[in-house]
Amino acid sequence: MAKHKIGVLISGGGSNLQALIDASAKADYPASVAVVISNREDAYGLNRAREHDIPAHIINHKDYNTREAFDDAMQDMLERHNVEIVCLAGFMRLLSPKFVARWQGRLLNIHPSLLPSFKGAHAVRDALAAGTKESGCTVHLVTDELDSGPILLQAKLPVLPGDTEETLHFRIHEAEHRIYPEALRILCEKQPKK
Ligand code: GRF
Repeated sequence: MAKHKIGVLISGGGSNLQALIDASAKADYPASVAVVISNREDAYGLNRAREHDIPAHIINHKDYNTREAFDDAMQDMLERHNVEIVCLAGFMRLLSPKFVARWQGRLLNIHPSLLPSFKGAHAVRDALAAGTKESGCTVHLVTDELDSGPILLQAKLPVLPGDTEETLHFRIHEAEHRIYPEALRILCEKQPKK
């Protein structure tokens, strides 16, 4: 089966990257990870890619004067690897409208809340502070507005008495690792394979 080539952008641990790599290893999964790009050289996810012989590149945003120039460097790398779909997996940089437009409908993000609730970088902390009884995670298409694009999949889970940011995020992560590969499968099945 011809698989869609995926580029994964990370900034950190890359447990969602790992879930996508593990899914890709199955013969009947419609995608494979062609390249991983991190804006941070210390991102542990780079090791995960290398362990699986997946090209892993550091493109440090600090080396570029503008967001557009940084995004263009990532674009060049994605094109070099013939990437068809981009997955953000804990990638902690805002993307330029130009980059988002180039990947419209082919750019996915995973977010640790039930969007549209608790957008932004501290979603788990904010959910706990608000006293919400239910949390979860969302895979959505990326648009110019932060954490706001069309939703592909969500998983809900209860907030338990005594939950801390760490315990709640741990359970959210487990749910993320289930739904991110599944959402990517759904997107691949909608996209004609080039
Ligand atoms: C995840 O919780 C994801 O929802 C958020 O950043 C975290 C990344 O975790 N966008 P990891 O690097 O995939 O382990």
